[in-house]
Amino acid sequence: MVLHAAKNAVLAVTSQKGETGEPKLKRSVIVIAFISLGLVYTTMLVGVYFSSLEQGVACTEWPLCPNGLFGPPEEKYLVEYAHRLIAAIAATFIYATAIMVPSSVRRAKKAALVAATLVSVQLVLGLFTVLTSLQPLVVASHLSTGITIFAFALLTFLWVGIWRKQRATAQ
Ligand code: HEM
Repeated sequence: MVLHAAKNAVLAVTSQKGETGEPKLKRSVIVIAFISLGLVYTTMLVGVYFSSLEQGVACTEWPLCPNGLFGPPEEKYLVEYAHRLIAAIAATFIYATAIMVPSSVRRAKKAALVAATLVSVQLVLGLFTVLTSLQPLVVASHLSTGITIFAFALLTFLWVGIWRKQRATAQ
């Protein structure tokens, strides 16, 4: 009952019926898919940057650095703190995308669900990069999972965009 109501609420936000009765995808879904993609890209950029600075274990605590969530971070782990903060925001957007993409847009829904699953794995891998003090296999898995998340976030964005365009030209 509650699940049914929640499903209807998500459908009301993400899609509506067009004049022909065909489901129509709201622009907000494409926007949120694009924001997710941009945030994953930014997280990766910051990750590679602080890895190159050899500051990978500047902050040895998990999930937060010693400054907590909103305290001013010390300079030595500023970039690592930024990486974790942006990663948390990116994960939130990826989960939101997976919820918001309607099941009728099947390929995009599948890609969004894969991205959401992988982001959960990535958060755990992030924990292990810290706990193992950058064990090479863990770092390699963290990097390759990040690239795969980017690929699925890109597929989600492309497929919602293509789906919407095809429906618009068909009407
Ligand atoms: C959406 C989530 C995330 C993505 C896409 C991501 C991506 C990346 C990428 C691409 C790198 C660079 C790897 C390299 O150059 O070898 C990196 C580095 C790193 N990430 Fe993440 N990351 C995410 C979340 C996290 C989280 C939550 C943590 C820990 C709390 C974390 C900890 C680290 C650490 C410690 C490094 C440095 C590795 C090194 O110095 O070689 N990451 N991340």
